[in-house]
Parts: sequence; C-alpha cells; structure tokens
Amino acid sequence: MTSKKKSVGLDYTDRAVQDEILIRQRRNMWSPEQIGSLSAHFRLAPGMALLDAGCGYGYSLRTFGPRCLPGGRLVGLDREPSLLETAARLAKREGIGSAAEFHAGDIFSLPFDTDTFDAVLMQVVMCHLAEPERALDELIRVAKPGGCIAVFDNAVGGCPWGWDSTDRPTVRQAAARCEHELLSHHGRRKLGRGDWSVGLYLPAWMEQRGLRDVDARVNELVRWIAPPYRSPAQQVTLENTRAQCADDGMDRIDIKHTAEQMRAAGCDERTVRNAMRSRRRRTTRWREAMDDGTAAFTYGGSFWCAWGFKP
Ligand SMILES: C[S@@+](CC[C@H](N)C(=O)[O-])C[C@H]1O[C@@H](n2cnc3c(N)ncnc32)[C@H](O)[C@@H]1O
Repeated sequence: MTSKKKSVGLDYTDRAVQDEILIRQRRNMWSPEQIGSLSAHFRLAPGMALLDAGCGYGYSLRTFGPRCLPGGRLVGLDREPSLLETAARLAKREGIGSAAEFHAGDIFSLPFDTDTFDAVLMQVVMCHLAEPERALDELIRVAKPGGCIAVFDNAVGGCPWGWDSTDRPTVRQAAARCEHELLSHHGRRKLGRGDWSVGLYLPAWMEQRGLRDVDARVNELVRWIAPPYRSPAQQVTLENTRAQCADDGMDRIDIKHTAEQMRAAGCDERTVRNAMRSRRRRTTRWREAMDDGTAAFTYGGSFWCAWGFKP
C-alpha cells in the first residue's frame, strides 16, 4: 500500500478519479481516424497477442484490440483488481469478452514470459511512475522480436497549452503561473509521483534501447467549447468540465496535489497559498461562465504516442 502511494499520486479507488480519468477523459483520447492510422503504424493484424499494461478500465484494449481479432489474444493488466472487474465487463459489452483476459499485477515485474506479445501498449501510466524507464524495459522484455511497443502519454512542458474565455492574465500573472506550474511539476517528480513531460522523452528512450522504426505522433484532437454549444461533442465536453469543477470532482484533488508539489519544490507557504487562491478564483469564474452560458475554451497538443519495434 505504501509503495502504491509512493509511485502514484492519484488514488484509483476514488470514484471521482475513476469517473474523470477512466471514463470522461477517454472520450477525448484519440479520433477514429488516428486510431486507424496508429493501428497501421503498430502493424496490428488478426491473430496477434496484445497487452494493455496498466489497463485501468481497458480503454486501449477495447480501442486497438479488435484489430487483432479474430484469433487474437487480448490481455489487460493492472494492479487494481476492482478496475479489472469493470474492464472485463466493458470488454464483454463490446463483444470482445471471449478474447480478453485480465490479470492483476505490477508493471515492473510483468507476470508474462519474455517474447510473449506482438503488441504492448501503455497509456497514461508512465507519467505516474517514479521510474518510467524501468517500466519501458519491462514492456520491451515481454514483446516478441519484431513486436511493437507503443506508449501514449502526456507531453506537457509546463507552460500554457490552452485558452479560456474567463481568463485574461497580465504577462506578469501568466509568467508567475507558468513558474508555479513548473515548480509543481518539479515537486511532483521529487515526490516520486511521476512526470507530466514523459511523452517528450519517449522517442529518445526507445532509440537508446535499440528499438527499430521509432516514431511518434501528437494527439490531433483539440477539445473546445464555444457558446451556443451547438454540437453534441461540445455538450459532452461541457458536461465533463462541469463534473471536473464540481465540489467532489477532480479539480479538488488536483488543487491539493499542486499545493503539495509546490511545497515539495521548496515554495514558501505564502506563494503556495496565493497560487491556490488564484486557482480557486479561476475555477469559480469558470463555473459562473458555464452557468451563464458564456464559457469557451480550447485545449490540445499535449498528448503524444511514441512507438518502436523490438529488434
Ligand atoms: C491514468 S490510469 C490509465 C488507465 C488506462 N491505461 C487508460 O488509458 O484508461 C493509470 C493506471 O495505471 C495503473 N498502474 C499504476 N501503476 C501501476 C503499476 N506499477 N502496475 C500496474 N498498474 C499500475 C493504475 O492502477 C491505473 O489503472
């Protein structure tokens, strides 16, 4: 239990975390076109064995697994058994249940033989790990020679990656926020909670390990809403954002973590308090804008996928 808290800041037994990350955010992960082109890049084909490592509710297994059917073996692994029950139920609901199997286990010592899988996928797990390169080594170990290792993760440099209509910071305020953001990232790494920039390093790490045909893509989706929120997609995003900002939503967890991380990075208490006050004020303004129908934002370009093939 302690090692779990040490390596992962988020608690995946928390309902708000599950709802926000494993369900709502997944609706905005990759466009159908990109799923098609990535599947071709990963050389997925019927009959292949695919592993979704740190599968959560099995989003990647359900998204890419069907390309390995018929005849394929779809394996999901996570260390939270309660998530695997839901993953199995969702796989069954999507008609791939008979090819799917789910295992409780640790990414750092995968319970599979060396050279087992044709494709090994991992999405939004590395950014939570204190030792992401050790996890990559383990993914490579269980891939077959010629098999694909594909890692999807955040590639956030620390400075603004979105725009919102309620926010008009001065240059000085924007620079201060950027500094706080970078300090929070630094503190996160120090606390062993992982690194939001991990996507940026993946191609280099893959090359260093001798993977072949290494390549990477940025998620092409831009999430956005603008009044009068005409499309169903915008209404879903609006609803997701509302849930995120609710009193019991992910924002509350994020604010708490950011404060802890800024402290860990050596920030004094006054700076932390001011940063959190300003953050809460922004959330309040944003909630009001959603309520009166004026809220607009754009956000994207901070999520990458890198892949390569085992020699
Ligand atoms: C953000 S979720 C991503 C879930 C899934 N890949 C997705 O994209 O929906 C991170 C997942 O990694 C799992 N995880 C974190 N560290 C792990 C470890 N050392 N071994 C196995 N699973 C781990 C967590 O339990 C959680 O389900």
